[in-house]
Amino acid sequence: MPKIVIENLFNHTINSETTHRKVIELIHENGIDWMHACGKKGRCTSCKIILTNGGENLGPVTDRELFFVKQNRLKPNERLSCQAVLEKGEIRVRVADINKFPHIEYSF
Ligand code: FES
Repeated sequence: MPKIVIENLFNHTINSETTHRKVIELIHENGIDWMHACGKKGRCTSCKIILTNGGENLGPVTDRELFFVKQNRLKPNERLSCQAVLEKGEIRVRVADINKFPHIEYSF
């Protein structure tokens, strides 16, 4: 089943019973606070995930993500968690420093 490992959150692991879910929904459903300044509409980049592994397990890059790629606001190893769909397998991600919350303790 699909799985998300958040490396700099002490390798917090989320196991999903279902496939083809948006990454941010899985994160939020598991009680993890994750920035989403535009309300998950693909209009900011505050929800981005930095992928360290498993990017091939996500669905295709969406038009909203391409918009930010063209502006150099998303790097090749970054996706918007409110747009990216976890289709299968495992992804390993990191929270960007700029999007960390002050009330949460992060690991290296
Ligand atoms: S929450 Fe704004 S782009 Fe995802």
